[in-house]
Amino acid sequence: MKHRDLIAALPKAELHLHIEGSMEPEMMFELAARNGIDIPYANVEEVRSAYNFTQLQDFLDIYYEGMAVLREEQDFYDLTMAYLKRSHADNVRHVEMFFDPQGHTTRGIAFETAVSGISRALNDGKKTLGMSSYLILSFLRHLSEEDAFETLAEAEPYLDQFIGVGLDSSEIGHPPSKFARVFARAREMGLKLCAHSGEEGPPDYVREALDILHIDRMDHGNRSMEDESLVQEIVDSGMVLTVCPLSNLKLGVIKDMTDSPVRRMLDAGIAVTLNSDDPAYFGGYMNANFEATADALNLTGADIITLVQNSFQGSFLPPAEIATYLEAVGKAAGSVSSETG
Ligand code: ADE
Ligand code: ZN
Repeated sequence: MKHRDLIAALPKAELHLHIEGSMEPEMMFELAARNGIDIPYANVEEVRSAYNFTQLQDFLDIYYEGMAVLREEQDFYDLTMAYLKRSHADNVRHVEMFFDPQGHTTRGIAFETAVSGISRALNDGKKTLGMSSYLILSFLRHLSEEDAFETLAEAEPYLDQFIGVGLDSSEIGHPPSKFARVFARAREMGLKLCAHSGEEGPPDYVREALDILHIDRMDHGNRSMEDESLVQEIVDSGMVLTVCPLSNLKLGVIKDMTDSPVRRMLDAGIAVTLNSDDPAYFGGYMNANFEATADALNLTGADIITLVQNSFQGSFLPPAEIATYLEAVGKAAGSVSSETG
């Protein structure tokens, strides 16, 4: 595999990761046993073979079902710590992590239980692994505006633990404009704004995310490529896109890795980044996403370095910390190229 060493050596930021989507089947069984919960699978292999999706909704149905095993604060801690350790092995140094509070509160789990467990693990990850991190509260777009407002109100006592809000779940039929007022309120609260846009939804939804929600970062954004003037707007505004190549493949957003828009995005001058989305469900963490994309699209070493630089530049970190990470990227890139001549 061409570039494997470079990909492994580069420090990276992951900007699109749903913590609930990092639950490996082994952990699902462990938590189910610990909490006395029945799950509809006999073993890990059965779980994995259920991960056969043709569209986003197929995945979401199984993803929400899988959350049932998360009940105690310690469960959220263990889930988060497992992700941090796994991604640290891929040289991920900074993560901006989504969580879906409504996936828990709608099953009777307190907002606080989820947020405390995740935050405690993120703090420990800083100390023990040296990983920096931010948490992003994501609204489920298939639920109502009122539900989102209630969730935002619940989040208020914990505001210091979030950097921003996101918008995920079933895209088609739930355009960004449905959440215009919630996002305006989140902005007033000082939060950054992200939204899944153009994963399955049309370019019009991407426009709404830009013009009505006034997002700071776009998740996926694939279908923006269908509209040349939209591409130009994205380039001119410096909007960062968090593309998830293996997720795109598993969810039928692309038919083959060679159809990934990453090459075209780089060529158009879009600040694109690579991410794992829900790695336990889509078959790979950060480095696997980089390797599969680099192989399919014949990315050069310089392309890979650009993608990694974009990940730090597109983060919500303060400029001084971004500069420190970029310096580390430059050093790692230099040492790999001098080794390989
Ligand atoms: N929730 C978790 N992963 C998602 C994805 N890829 N799209 C929409 N909602 C999600
Ligand atoms: Zn996502």
